[in-house]
Amino acid sequence: MDRNLALEAVRVTEAAALSCARLTGRGDETAADQAAVDAMRKAFDALAIDGTVVIGEGERDEAPMLYIGEKVGCGGPKVDIALDPLEGTTICATGAPNALAVIAMADGGNLLHCPDTYMEKIAVGPAGKDVVDLDKTPTQNLHALAEARRCNVEDLTVIILARPRHEQIIKEVRQAGARIRLIGDGDVSAAIATTKPETGIDLLLGIGGAPEGVLAAAALRCVGGEFQGRLKPRNESEIERAKKMGVRDINKKFKIEELARGDVTFAATGVTDGDYLRGVHFFPGGATTQSVVMRSKSRTIRIINATHYFEHKPNY
Ligand code: FBP
Repeated sequence: MDRNLALEAVRVTEAAALSCARLTGRGDETAADQAAVDAMRKAFDALAIDGTVVIGEGERDEAPMLYIGEKVGCGGPKVDIALDPLEGTTICATGAPNALAVIAMADGGNLLHCPDTYMEKIAVGPAGKDVVDLDKTPTQNLHALAEARRCNVEDLTVIILARPRHEQIIKEVRQAGARIRLIGDGDVSAAIATTKPETGIDLLLGIGGAPEGVLAAAALRCVGGEFQGRLKPRNESEIERAKKMGVRDINKKFKIEELARGDVTFAATGVTDGDYLRGVHFFPGGATTQSVVMRSKSRTIRIINATHYFEHKPNY
């Protein structure tokens, strides 16, 4: 994949973030999501790729735009795309931290195709690579990570979605002595936060969206972190859909390279201020954004601060 594409990809996430950020805290999740989708779809038209959406807004019959299978881009290399124009619709609608606009790109066939079901996940930065494992208990993982980091379990913080389904994990993590950051939404941002020491977040555990799992895996591939996931379908129809999409063993533990293979590019722009990225800040006549773009091939992580003047971009 052309390395210049990585920088171009940021324009796509910037456009989505700028558009939905206008609706921060306004209580309308649907409008915020729609604004991000419309802007991202439009921005794709200027991207020099022959792209196919493999993780998107839903199946063709349920999403008018950026649906799974939709072709995007104005021509160029064939790439598969995973995207979430607004990761954390509730976060944005309530003005909470860590909403993002996100895309990941890889050569055709290199991102896991999976339905919009759940996924059990473990994510950690490079210090936890080959150390933690989805099949280990939270206690075992915390001890292994503490040993690798040469610290005590008490020094570690685990980020977990605040959901009743995580009652047992939360109890065990507390018993093991680690601290917990419970979040309402946004486990892509949470997974990426484990790769940046300043966030104070060391490990992500729990069940969240499967599409978000593929996006997080793409980011962690780029930085040399660890991510493992196992699909957690809620019913027979989700199992059938997963099988149709090529998942042969529904109980399979997917390693990071099986979720995002080969040369992967990941880009995200903050919508609201967060642990990893600052959100969109408006000023009279414009706005600033902060984005990250990462490439697995070169392991580069670029933080891009941009100032946008709306008189030159009337479409935002
Ligand atoms: P949306 O942006 O689609 O609202 O997803 C937010 C999110 O919190 C994800 O980060 C997470 O993976 C998923 O929802 C968890 O799902 P649920 O809210 O059903 O537990």
